Amino acid sequence: MEEQIKKIKQTSEKEIADAKDLKVLEDLRVKYLGKKGELTAVLRGMKDLTPEQRPVIGSLVNDVRDELEKQIKEKEAKLKEEELNKRIESEKIDITLPSTKTRRGSLHPVTRIIEDMEDLFVSMGYDVVQGPELETDEFCFERLNLPKGHPARDMQDSFYITDEYLLRTQTSAVQARTMLANTEKTPIRMITCGKTYRREDDATHSHQFNQIEGLVIDKKERNVSLADLKGTLEIFVRKIIGANLDLRFRPSYFPFTEPSYEVDVTCFKCGGKGCNLCKQTGWIEVLGAGIVHPNVLKMNGYNPDEYGGFAFGTGIDRLAMFRYGITDMRYLYTNDVRFLNQFDRKDEE
Ligand code: PHE
Repeated sequence: MEEQIKKIKQTSEKEIADAKDLKVLEDLRVKYLGKKGELTAVLRGMKDLTPEQRPVIGSLVNDVRDELEKQIKEKEAKLKEEELNKRIESEKIDITLPSTKTRRGSLHPVTRIIEDMEDLFVSMGYDVVQGPELETDEFCFERLNLPKGHPARDMQDSFYITDEYLLRTQTSAVQARTMLANTEKTPIRMITCGKTYRREDDATHSHQFNQIEGLVIDKKERNVSLADLKGTLEIFVRKIIGANLDLRFRPSYFPFTEPSYEVDVTCFKCGGKGCNLCKQTGWIEVLGAGIVHPNVLKMNGYNPDEYGGFAFGTGIDRLAMFRYGITDMRYLYTNDVRFLNQFDRKDEE
């Protein structure tokens, strides 16, 4: 019987050492140590032994059993490690493979211009302020010297929500808000950019568009003059639309400025020679501007004998059209990626 046990030990040890994977190892465990295993069978045969032999064989079987269990455990750990290493090897990421291309978005042309304008005016000491798009008749018109029934209201076809509330037709509404909020009467130098709404829709007009508004107010003795307005707008136009452009001031009418001007710039298409875009004049109208009307100062808490200043406003979408040569304003709103992709990092190149 001793012989038999030693033989079992020998063959099982060899088989365990040769086991290729965990499955084979488990089969070996069952084969030798399981309930119907070979060692268990030996133990069962012990009943035929003499009382003297029993403890000897018993302890031999136990020793072999312990030894095999130990070897199986060690082999199991080794196989597990090998399998893990194999997995790590097979799942290794090749960081030198080219990646799938992620598509980067780009800034909308209107956003680009707004950011450029804000940078420019902040560099000249202006604040950037905000106003509501749902505006009251009071701030959009009345406080800008446009009482109810004023004929100049017809210049801006509006979307009214109620009798008092409308979608603002001009960022000029923020002029009144800024003046009224400035109870300390500190100097005002502000611009505001944002959406405006009018009932119109064609290649150069959209029912929703964007405006920039500028307002400067200071004590009379500081002499904020038309010359300052001209100088400011010259910098504005040359930085934002084109360095070689000239400006032309034409007398015009706005209820909230007096005198009022429409400001033209050299036609960017023909350089001033005259073409179909500028209707052979060599000029394209870009801005509205003027000296703040005394009534507006008065209505918004300023004494016109003590304070004065200038204001200007223009459509940002039109500036975008000039700067990028866009022929139809509606492209700016239809969200066609083929259009938008063309502005991908355009100014940074
Ligand atoms: N708000 C005017 C418009 O929308 C533009 C403007 C602004 C004119 C400020 C003069 C001063 O047409």
